Amino acid sequence: MNQYVIRGGHPLFGEITVSGAKNAAVAIIPAALLVDGVVRIENVPEISDVTLFFSILEELGAKVRILNRHAVELDCRSIHSTRPSYELARRIRASYYLVGALLGRFGQATVAMPGGCNFGVRPIDLHVKGFRAMGAEVTEGGFIEAVARDGRLKGASIYMDQVSVGATMNVMMAAVLADGVTTIDNAAKEPHIVDLANFLNSMGADIKGAGTDTIKIRGVEKLTGGTYCIIPDQIEAGTYMAAVAATGGQLLIKNVIPKHMECISSKLQEMGVVVEEQDDALLVRRSAPLQRTNVKTMPYPGFPTDMQPQITVVLALAEGTSIVTEGVWDNRFKYVGELKRLGAQIQVDGRVAVVEGVSRLEGAPIQACDLRAGAALVIAGLAAQGTTTLGSVQYIERGYEDMVGKLRAVGADIELVDLPEPEKKEQSIG
Ligand code: UD1
Repeated sequence: MNQYVIRGGHPLFGEITVSGAKNAAVAIIPAALLVDGVVRIENVPEISDVTLFFSILEELGAKVRILNRHAVELDCRSIHSTRPSYELARRIRASYYLVGALLGRFGQATVAMPGGCNFGVRPIDLHVKGFRAMGAEVTEGGFIEAVARDGRLKGASIYMDQVSVGATMNVMMAAVLADGVTTIDNAAKEPHIVDLANFLNSMGADIKGAGTDTIKIRGVEKLTGGTYCIIPDQIEAGTYMAAVAATGGQLLIKNVIPKHMECISSKLQEMGVVVEEQDDALLVRRSAPLQRTNVKTMPYPGFPTDMQPQITVVLALAEGTSIVTEGVWDNRFKYVGELKRLGAQIQVDGRVAVVEGVSRLEGAPIQACDLRAGAALVIAGLAAQGTTTLGSVQYIERGYEDMVGKLRAVGADIELVDLPEPEKKEQSIG
């Protein structure tokens, strides 16, 4: 319930180190439930979604030992429940991974589904279709309850009608200990799909083809434990690339996998931003005016939907008119109203935004409405002249490790301000 106060208009210069990938971490941590041994995970991002998952695992009976800010040991040999509490599970969207992991290991799971949604309907029919194909009885309501008919799931061939990150990962988790071979066709190919498969394989699973359309999982008797290091966060890196594109300046963005960044780098290059690849870093520089372009979000290797708000802010400052088409979610332009308060010229019609570039934004009080939109509004505040106060920053803290500290270290004038109690109350109602 705190807010960021941003005095914008300063270019960014220096180095930023990217943390471990949020969307890999929120799958790999529940996937540790599948392991009958000690799992050590490194490069874990220090974000509130991860902390919440640790609490859920502890509540189920796991031992969670924090080794340092970015490393943890998880021991799921003493799990005594397959029913995480409603209070914890409903607070994190990725709690659906608990279903695949618990069902795969113990043959049953009862998990509260996250309530309301931020950017459109978020169905789980493809997850359920996969579990049913593997022999689970599944009932849905306030909770999703899944039980393997014979105590253990059976391998199956599953075609995903739509490319889904969550369903691909969830079915993968359910299948690693199943009896026989599971094939997922039309699988998602995001970097965190490959990361989850690599994690599970390093614990003793037999998964082939992650990162392609078809993933084959041969069930094994048991996963035994080991050490794994999470990949860098593609979206966090992209967010800082967008920040320097919007403010001008030069950033060395360290701890990235340049291949994962190509879909984002190429769009920024079209806009006149210089992006130089190094082994595990990107040097990003903007000294000339930004040029217009069009962007359509798509599953990987397309332009990521989780970068759509950030790139829209950059385009809001480009010369000319750009079209942004949201190809994944129904309602992911809610933040545009806030961006307009800063002077952006954007018209939204359904999944399409027409962005008329303006030469400057002006600071104003605004509110974050979800994680990536919140990050985009930080970028807008950094680029705007004058002071922006951004409320509801708890969304940002779900998925960005120390955003304020990282930005301050490269010259941004941004601070976290603790709101007095009455104002906090007001903000939470809004
Ligand atoms: C994950 C990411 C989210 C990102 C999204 C797309 C996590 C925790 N979240 O969300 O940040 O925006 O991928 O890259 O990793 N769909 C169905 N039925 C299903 C599942 C999905 O129709 O059972 C549809 C959705 O409505 C959406 C599309 O498939 O239109 C993609 O959703 P999906 O890839 O599943 O997103 P998530 O895994 O929820």
